[in-house]
Amino acid sequence: MSEINKKRKIAILTSGGDSPGMNNVISAVYRTIKAINSEKQANKSLSPEEARPFELMLIKNGYKGILEKEIYEIDDHWNQLITMSTKIGGTIIGSARFKSFEEEETRKKAKKILDEFGIEALIAVGGNGTFIGLQKLSELGIKCIGIPGTIDNDIVSSDVTIGFDTALNTIVESIDRIRETSDSHSRISIIEVMGRYCGDLAIQAAVNCDLFATPNDPKIQEHELINIIRDLHNKQNLRSIIVLVTENLYDVKKLAKNIETDLKIETRATILGQIQRGGSPSAFDRYLATMMGIFAVEQIEKKGNSSAIIGLNGNKLSAMPIQVALNMPKPDRFNSISKILRLSGIFYKRK
Ligand code: F6P
Repeated sequence: MSEINKKRKIAILTSGGDSPGMNNVISAVYRTIKAINSEKQANKSLSPEEARPFELMLIKNGYKGILEKEIYEIDDHWNQLITMSTKIGGTIIGSARFKSFEEEETRKKAKKILDEFGIEALIAVGGNGTFIGLQKLSELGIKCIGIPGTIDNDIVSSDVTIGFDTALNTIVESIDRIRETSDSHSRISIIEVMGRYCGDLAIQAAVNCDLFATPNDPKIQEHELINIIRDLHNKQNLRSIIVLVTENLYDVKKLAKNIETDLKIETRATILGQIQRGGSPSAFDRYLATMMGIFAVEQIEKKGNSSAIIGLNGNKLSAMPIQVALNMPKPDRFNSISKILRLSGIFYKRK
């Protein structure tokens, strides 16, 4: 078949921790490509090269799927799955954390396989690790577009990531439930949330709590946290105290025991864990994922090999060079954190 008759193949994969909304990206990319193809077919003034239709290929299980040649055309089965998947969490094409993609040899193999399948552009939905992989692949000559999909909201090049809002709602709902039982028993409850090394889930859910600790500034040591809880208990007439903490800060089970011993108040620890990752995507996540998916295809339609990371900045979609996106400084959350802590009478000034 001559080049001019061949379809322009775009592949999509989801990588790293899954997040609600990933399926909505797949659906938006697929539907946008179908719409572009219909427009091309109807437009008789296009040159044969311009008229070449796109084809979306699905890569299963993240970067690992490239190496295992798990690359599929969309048949009736996939078509139905995509249509039905927009209201469910997770990712219908699977995800994986694939350490060996950090090795150059593995990436070169991946590029060879993508060439074999005739894939000219790759869309990857994931987090920082996914984007580092994309940067390296783009250096090998594949046009790469990254879409921020993680519940952690730790992608600095985007104000918000796909899945964050759904996870936040799950956390807030869980806090409400734990509050009911804590109030009933007049207990202290420690709730650990995800975020890896980013405090955003805890910060935004914390408006429903009495106290919270994150990896951000101010860093609260365990003994200091216990002192603050003692103060809250002694000075405020609280029926229960809910303390939200980001993972990787404390051993929350031990922390609960230490609080009980020190303060002589019944204390329970709950690690919300993987429950935060699942669930039907919120309306906001569906919208964000859809708009980012459409925008990603628009970047691929542009001429040249300008790989990019998509972001939402001040309510506007952006496409940044991958290296620029990866090197942006972390946002400073001190202002928001200190204002939320002040609601509980806890005062922090910047050192
Ligand atoms: O990056 C998303 C995330 O859920 C983090 O919040 C958490 O630290 C990690 O993934 C857990 O990963 P896994 O499900 O592979 O244990």
